[in-house]
Amino acid sequence: MTPAPDHFTGEELSQLGNRLVLYRCALRLVETQLTNLNEFYLAGSDPNPIEHIKSRMKSAESIAHKLALRGLPVTAESAADHLTDIAGARIICCYAKDIADIATILKSHRDLTVVTEKDYVTHPKPSGYRSYHLVVRVTPDGAFGDRSVPVEIQIRTAAMDFWASLEHRVRYKYDGDIPEHLSAELRASAEKTHELDNRLYLIHELVDLINA
Ligand code: GTP
Ligand code: MG
Repeated sequence: MTPAPDHFTGEELSQLGNRLVLYRCALRLVETQLTNLNEFYLAGSDPNPIEHIKSRMKSAESIAHKLALRGLPVTAESAADHLTDIAGARIICCYAKDIADIATILKSHRDLTVVTEKDYVTHPKPSGYRSYHLVVRVTPDGAFGDRSVPVEIQIRTAAMDFWASLEHRVRYKYDGDIPEHLSAELRASAEKTHELDNRLYLIHELVDLINA
């Protein structure tokens, strides 16, 4: 049996290109909402809980890889049907406590319809991964009519982000199959990262009390 292709054919790639337009427009809208939230915090008297905001579109290669890995057809339609992270934004915040507050604000936004919500901050993944994930549906509107697409928003602290980037690099290096001694080390580092987040927050609170 010939294995299912792990890349898009020329025709499918062009179909994907057409579909990605809507995702790019949706991501731009989310970026605007996140920039506006940052603006709101900057105008306030409290320290801004947002450290920075990043966003990215998943590459065609990476979309194909993920579909193939899941045993799904590598077609534009399949990507639209099964993937929710083609467009993604990430908010890096200062303290873990800020994550829930930011998530609550985003969930209340009338332009963002929450599809799924995963709290890997209170319930970390077995890998040690911590982050808060929201998948929201966005309707670019206007010329696009009522078509909507998902955008994944990840909210995490700078320490969680540092850990996740490193773990991702290790996972990539070992093609997803990280040797046990390294995954144990990563899990231990994730706990240390969590502890660091808590300790830094404690210092922040103490300083606030002193200044009060
Ligand atoms: P994928 O994990 O992307 O297949 O999607 P999913 O439906 O399982 O959603 P989930 O919320 O588990 O993960 C979505 C995204 O979170 C991933 O694409 C990664 O960016 C990130 N993520 C999830 N788990 C891990 C992990 O163990 N390590 C790292 N570094 N990132 C993770
Ligand atoms: Mg996953």
